[in-house]
Amino acid sequence: MKSDNKPDVCVVGLGYIGLPTAAVIARAGCRVLGLDVSQRVVDTINRGEIHIEEVDLDGLVQGVVARGLLSASTEEAPADVFVIAVPTPFDKNHAPDISYVLAAGRTIAPVLKAGDVVILESTSPVGTTEELRDMIAQMRPDLKIPGLTRETPDISIAYCPERVLPGRILEELTNNDRSIGGVTPRCARKALAFYKRFVRGECVTTDARSAEMTKLVENAYRDVNIAFANELSVVADKMGLDVWEVIRLANRHPRVNILSPGPGVGGHCIAVDPWFIVHGAPEHTPLIRTARGVNDGKMHHVIARAEELVAANPAAKVACLGLAFKANIDDFRESPARFVASRLARKFGSRVHIVEPYAAELPIEFTDTGAVQIDIDDALETCDILIVLVDHDVFRVVPLAERADKLVYDTRGIWPDQPRAVREDAPAVRLAG
Ligand SMILES: NC(=O)c1ccc[n+]([C@@H]2O[C@H](COP(=O)([O-])OP(=O)(O)OC[C@H]3O[C@@H](n4cnc5c(N)ncnc54)[C@H](O)[C@@H]3O)[C@@H](O)[C@H]2O)c1
Repeated sequence: MKSDNKPDVCVVGLGYIGLPTAAVIARAGCRVLGLDVSQRVVDTINRGEIHIEEVDLDGLVQGVVARGLLSASTEEAPADVFVIAVPTPFDKNHAPDISYVLAAGRTIAPVLKAGDVVILESTSPVGTTEELRDMIAQMRPDLKIPGLTRETPDISIAYCPERVLPGRILEELTNNDRSIGGVTPRCARKALAFYKRFVRGECVTTDARSAEMTKLVENAYRDVNIAFANELSVVADKMGLDVWEVIRLANRHPRVNILSPGPGVGGHCIAVDPWFIVHGAPEHTPLIRTARGVNDGKMHHVIARAEELVAANPAAKVACLGLAFKANIDDFRESPARFVASRLARKFGSRVHIVEPYAAELPIEFTDTGAVQIDIDDALETCDILIVLVDHDVFRVVPLAERADKLVYDTRGIWPDQPRAVREDAPAVRLAG
């Protein structure tokens, strides 16, 4: 550790979580090395630029790189604290893939020294931090490893999940409460001392397995509750009811708070993490598994309704509004909007237009479909059908006067003032399901 008592920090994985984390730690005055396997990512950051969209991140990264507090590399180097924020996807059977975490561990193990703290932030199935610990123990028999020695361990290993909201990452990184789970209580205390340097929220210590499960539970909770709203939206659609009206009224009950339906659930967290729990206890997770099925099923319901609307109006030009998995971000991973729009593009070709202000170009699956990207103004001038798939602010603020004569399928409920003219032989002008 340096004479100013600020640890040198290595953040492994410089994506949506790792880069903002590295920048915030650097802002707190630590010297941070960002480690990534992507040369493009490393070069971009070393120019003081960013490769992801996140509010205020560009200025922060530019500043800490210019001050020499943050640099990036593909080569590992010694540090005092290692923070791992690499992907944890699932495979085609929904089994968690922790190979990136173990690869990150293999990379840093050779440079670990006595006194170092290793913190895993990637969303991980229960037991991953101990697996990481065991792997480090195998690679570094010269180090006394926590939980595997009766003596004072040389290093500390902990798990601290991230619960930030894309679009508010910088604010939430510092202000959210954190659960810090140590492989041993001593490890938790060492990690806590590190987070106290840049986190203003309350930091609560626990064991690593509980912290791992806490993160999964948070996202499964969201998924189950969104599934309830999505199921309601399908039922309301079948009954000819406006689900938004029903939810608005039900939420006047002092103990009811139904979430908003949408075209499904996407992103790298809520659509993925519940499977980590299901995989860990397949016999005992019927609710969590069903919620996943309901949310995926809602996406297919939206596809069917949208196809019906487009097919019933053969001369109409169609605009799909949004591809991102949620509002005001450029993250298209596991996005139901993207899936719905690409299905429509494949089926209806050049009739389909995509409006996505956060995408420089259309994703690969739109190639050769005939669908093109246009902006919201062109869509409002030239398209007859608007299918709202994402509640970006830029869509939300379109006044009624500019869309009153359109056929609208609003899967996000952003335009409650859209006329609802139900005709027996045609889809509703405002389809609420
Ligand atoms: N994105 C979110 O909003 C969010 C929120 C909470 C938790 N998480 C979790 O955080 C973790 C990271 O997610 P993300 O969204 O930042 O992912 P990401 O894909 O945006 O970034 C991951 C980065 O890690 C790099 N990488 C992969 N393997 C590496 C290795 N062995 N060594 C060094 N770098 C490596 C990749 O090149 C990439 O730049 C995941 O477990 C995710 O579930 C994400």
